Amino acid sequence: MIHVDNNIFTLHTRRTTYQCKADGHGVLLHTYYGARVSGGDLSYRIRHADRGFSPNPGEVGRCRTYSLDTLPQEYSTCGVGDYRIPAIAAENADGSQLVDLRFQGYEVRQGKYALEGLPAFFAGGGEAETLVVTLQDSTTRLTVELYYGVFEGYDLICRAARIINRGTQPVRLLRAASLCLDFPQDNLDFITFDGRHTMEREFCRTPLRPGVQSIGSVRGTSSHQHNPFVMLCSPSADEDHGLCFGAALLYSGGFEAAVESSQFREARLVMGVAPHHFCWTLGPGEAFTTPEAALVCSPDGFASMTHCWHRAVRRCLCRDPYEGRRRPVLVNNWEATYFDFNAEKLVGIAREAAALGIELLVMDDGWFGSRDSDFGGLGDWSVNRSKLPGGLEALVPQIQGLGLGFGLWVEPEMVSEDSALYRAHPDWALGAPGRPQTRGRSQLVLDFTRREVRDAVYSAICEVLRSADICYMKWDMNRSLSDVWSAAIPAQRQGEVYHRYVLGLYEMLERFRREFPGLLIEGCSGGGGRFDLGMLYYTPQIWCSDNTDAVDRLRIQYGTSFCYPSCTVGAHVSASPNEQTRRAAPLETRGIVAMGGTFGFELDLGRVDEQEKAVMAKQTADYKKYYRLIAEGDYYRLSSPFGDEGYTAWAHVSPDRTEALVSLVTGPTRAALPFLCLRLRGLDAGKRYRVSGGGSYAGDVLMHAGYPVPPLAGDYQAVQLYLAAE
Ligand code: DGJ
Repeated sequence: MIHVDNNIFTLHTRRTTYQCKADGHGVLLHTYYGARVSGGDLSYRIRHADRGFSPNPGEVGRCRTYSLDTLPQEYSTCGVGDYRIPAIAAENADGSQLVDLRFQGYEVRQGKYALEGLPAFFAGGGEAETLVVTLQDSTTRLTVELYYGVFEGYDLICRAARIINRGTQPVRLLRAASLCLDFPQDNLDFITFDGRHTMEREFCRTPLRPGVQSIGSVRGTSSHQHNPFVMLCSPSADEDHGLCFGAALLYSGGFEAAVESSQFREARLVMGVAPHHFCWTLGPGEAFTTPEAALVCSPDGFASMTHCWHRAVRRCLCRDPYEGRRRPVLVNNWEATYFDFNAEKLVGIAREAAALGIELLVMDDGWFGSRDSDFGGLGDWSVNRSKLPGGLEALVPQIQGLGLGFGLWVEPEMVSEDSALYRAHPDWALGAPGRPQTRGRSQLVLDFTRREVRDAVYSAICEVLRSADICYMKWDMNRSLSDVWSAAIPAQRQGEVYHRYVLGLYEMLERFRREFPGLLIEGCSGGGGRFDLGMLYYTPQIWCSDNTDAVDRLRIQYGTSFCYPSCTVGAHVSASPNEQTRRAAPLETRGIVAMGGTFGFELDLGRVDEQEKAVMAKQTADYKKYYRLIAEGDYYRLSSPFGDEGYTAWAHVSPDRTEALVSLVTGPTRAALPFLCLRLRGLDAGKRYRVSGGGSYAGDVLMHAGYPVPPLAGDYQAVQLYLAAE
């Protein structure tokens, strides 16, 4: 609910309140964000004092207690007295880098705003409201519209800014954040999700220290290294207690999430497109729209914050062609064959798969052009007839005849130098004149800022998609951007290329979605190099990591779970010893870990013995049985893989609390292990539950006294328990 009174803007959600206020000088102050309160003017919390070296705006005359440097700002400016991180920075036509924004007006609208060409949360009727607050620099007439989307039922507040040049001279935007959020004190922990290729999104929690601490990406993608989802929380916050804030950027390109602990022990979070490499010229009348940022505050710990994210992402962000239906269990041939496959091998895999209850065969990299290794072929999106003699026209009906659907892998943003596409259009790859390009995985990046480049790739892939009945597409992207220079953009606008690339990517994804509404697109960037809410708007599931080792996956999926629901997390059972780590793990464990995500297989089914096949068939059946619970249940982290309890556990609990699926994986074994009583979360204290492992227990008993897990001998053992209310 949005309440406006005397230029005080109060946004209430079910459990939280957010407030900002335009003061007598027209400065938009941030006055509160936290547990829901009744309202009123919360600016009484802001104290005014004469602070040395904190300057005072011209219009306050001799008053020394009013300074932008000491006031909590809603969208911080640059060069006019606030020395903390700016949300906006711009170079004006006279060369000055000054932006002074003052309140102009506001508007409240029913429904949720949309952002043209950019991903954004959306709302069904009555689910959300929009507030637009307009600020302007009176000298240059640079105008900023701050958008707030309030999803009351999800405790979700979305923000974006539209920056419009209403002046007569061009302005160069140097920084345009999506979000600025000031906190009255800095005794907060900063939680980020960091890693590397094959080890993404590891949970990292550190107390704030004085100065700026930031994470981000300058790779042109949101990256494996840092995720555009961060948290701030009170030092004592845990799963069930304490104030915590989650902030996510709906953006798949380079980003920055910076927190400053200021001289007066206040904190500021600024999040947006990476300012590094960013410079956007706004001619008179032109506008720039930032990507959307989203916020969830939880007054009582991480679990309920996670539930808000998961529900909102599932219902108000992902556009799932399988809406209301179960997505298929798939087998992907990548780790089974790599590039070495042909129609016969694929049919063999599909035949084995059908017997296990698997429903979709995904043909991964290597089916097109001269793609026999990762040194060539990208860009030539036509079927390699020596591998697949009759083309997809012949192969797909064969697979369907076995009872499976068919999906295929593409990497539309890339080109190999050894390809017909590159030979015809070498200038279509990003790269500055006179410089040798930097290769990544021996490939170059296509200039997706250019319409003709996107059109050519789009038409070629469309032709393949139309050639047969294809219901799934894996959209991969296997390198970071470098040599970012576009032949189609003038020199003074090259600072726009990174962002225009992402806009081009989104435009192309949207085109595929519209043209093939039944097509399930799975995002991928060497696994989880572009695992973000921006991609999830177009691709409702994303391959979580190129690391399929179940034990490493515990850490990766744990970090991923804070913001991203299980139905978005691509996870497969692969071979043991694992292809990436050479670690052996029991098949039961691999299955249970993959059921923490979208569940599928990625191994040579022809090399699996009968006993293992029986286990796999049971896993497939179990996953189908528990699908709703996994895909739509509330997710509870019961034990962290980063802790020292020696096991990792999690649970999916149905929203009505009548069912739960509890999963537990132990670490490396040791002698004389202590007995384990697993304390559950999220059950109904007043209900009794029958546990598949044996026994019937009251909900409060399971949550406080715990469930006696039978002794599990050996490394990385797993157990899965199904609980049903009696
Ligand atoms: C990286 C992906 O993450 C893998 O699953 C596989 O599709 C390869 N690319 C293919 O090149």
